[in-house]
Amino acid sequence: MKNCKIKNASLAPAGLKKIEWARSHMPVLERIKKRFAKEKPLEGVRIAACLHNTKETAVLAETLAAGGAQVALCGSNPLSTQDDVVAALASEGISVYAWRGINKKDYYWCINKVLDIKPHITLDDGADLISAVHSKRKQLIPGIIGGQEETTTGVIRLKAMAKACALKFPVIAVNDAKTKMMFDNRYGTGSSTIDGIMRATNILLAGKRFVVAGYGWCGRGLAMRARGMGALVTITEVDAVKALEARMDGFEVAPMLEAARYGDIFVTATGDIDVLTKKHFPLMKDGAIIANTGHFDCEINVKQLDAMAKRKRTILPEVDEYTLPNNRRVILLAQGRLVNLACAEGHPSEVMMMSFGNQALATEYLVKNAGKLKNKVYEVPDEIDREIARLTLQAMSIKMDVLTKEQEEYLSSWTSGT
Ligand code: ADE
Repeated sequence: MKNCKIKNASLAPAGLKKIEWARSHMPVLERIKKRFAKEKPLEGVRIAACLHNTKETAVLAETLAAGGAQVALCGSNPLSTQDDVVAALASEGISVYAWRGINKKDYYWCINKVLDIKPHITLDDGADLISAVHSKRKQLIPGIIGGQEETTTGVIRLKAMAKACALKFPVIAVNDAKTKMMFDNRYGTGSSTIDGIMRATNILLAGKRFVVAGYGWCGRGLAMRARGMGALVTITEVDAVKALEARMDGFEVAPMLEAARYGDIFVTATGDIDVLTKKHFPLMKDGAIIANTGHFDCEINVKQLDAMAKRKRTILPEVDEYTLPNNRRVILLAQGRLVNLACAEGHPSEVMMMSFGNQALATEYLVKNAGKLKNKVYEVPDEIDREIARLTLQAMSIKMDVLTKEQEEYLSSWTSGT
């Protein structure tokens, strides 16, 4: 097995079955793959990807490879790689450098290995690859046509780079496509975060007080699904409009210092640092569960929790119990890393098909427009966004109405009124 570093190649048969399962739930990506296989729009294109290595990402990698691309993959989080899936990808001849439980030094070693292919395109989930190119591998920049970013946190980092005139090639914010954000971030995070908490703890959500920090698309989806499981949901926010929206959506809104006293389960979904800290832990009820579903492990200050605890023990896989000086126990899931990918399998294939459909078509767009774009963060072109919505509706056998000629004319006129 050349150009790979994975944990266990013998897991490939299990991984291949998982990927087959994902494929059968990702008909839009399969359709794009068929066209790519015929038209080969990515012939000769080298793609370096730093993504969560799940069965869905495997289907994206296969799609890009079908289009003629050479793909090299590494992970975008230490706990999100599915070892059987990467073994399967390696058995299919895709370069992959990733394993679950990777340490920081090896994480960056893997990033450098995928960059060694001298990519034309970079795919990121969190902007670590682009950040490495701009800081340590600058000599690669002239060969790069453009990049793509999958998640909100990464888009924020890239916009900051563009604002500081530090971004040296164009990037498409796949995260911000309507057919990504409104579905993956909302329904994907809602579903997979609950899944992660349930798989790790098997607790009953009905009747529990569930606190969601942040009411962006991810927080909205999670709050909606927690309520659906019978929990009483509280939202914490710093944005007045979002706080108001949460309240009018029927959720309680409170500052974290208040919610900390009564929550049974806390999940952070803000993208910011220090959402749960040493100010909050001692206020929590005995046995309170805390988890994060944001991209980086900075939302819960685990260092402070470690420092203040008088005892720590692992109760179940990825379930750590901290006993505080006041003898109350706080239960941390997945070491404060993305609970949906570390304790479950990430978002379901059906939403990833939309996100990765955007990734595949945006890759084709970047190649077609090589040299024509500026060094800034672009939105996904509206035609691509709409095409993904149309293909998804078709895959779900959902039909919709079309405007009549008269309706179109009415909508474009300004003369008719009262
Ligand atoms: N991000 C969230 N869920 C994911 C999944 N299933 N695959 C890849 N990236 C993800």
